[in-house]
Amino acid sequence: MGSVWSLFGYGNHGRTDDPDPVTGLTSRDRYHVKTSWAGVMKNPTENGVALLILLFEKYPTAKEVFPFRDIPNSELAKNARVKVHANAVVYAIASIVDAIDNVDLLVPMLEKVGTSHGPRKVSEEQFLQLKETIVELFSKFMKKEEVEAWKKALDVVMSVINKALKTYLDGH
Ligand code: HEM
Repeated sequence: MGSVWSLFGYGNHGRTDDPDPVTGLTSRDRYHVKTSWAGVMKNPTENGVALLILLFEKYPTAKEVFPFRDIPNSELAKNARVKVHANAVVYAIASIVDAIDNVDLLVPMLEKVGTSHGPRKVSEEQFLQLKETIVELFSKFMKKEEVEAWKKALDVVMSVINKALKTYLDGH
């Protein structure tokens, strides 16, 4: 972020002409992801539960891989195990957001998510369903440019995860 950009009022929003060579995300994309995520983290558990419930409403088959598959959607929000899991997912996404400026850390972190979900019978399609669900949820309270940055970031996130998942599945 150079001073010239600051003079034009872009100082805090990042540049649009500096895509990271690995992720393709500009500093402005990363700025929007990081600042909007801070809003999600004000209520991590509630937002995580809302994300899981929306995922199951949109894609009922996604629920089948979870240990709480037999609990009706209307009762998920008060279930302790669901809350623990929702919290774990939100904090995992927080680590991903924290590493967004550091691809050397980001890529192996995402690969680990892909590999660790292989034995849980999670499919590549389900990661893409989660992406659609995150975008839908965030569209309810984020600005348009923030949602666009998330779409771009999630494309990268899910493609790295899915590549690692495919490698895992090919070997098992
Ligand atoms: C960015 C995407 C995702 C992240 C960051 C993520 C993160 C996590 C974390 C942190 C855990 C618990 C810790 C662990 O055991 O590794 C977990 C468990 C799990 N995840 Fe994911 N996950 C993602 C996507 C998905 C998707 C798309 C599904 C299926 C639709 C899924 C299904 C599961 C299941 C079934 C468990 C085990 C739950 C349990 O035994 O209580 N995850 N995930």
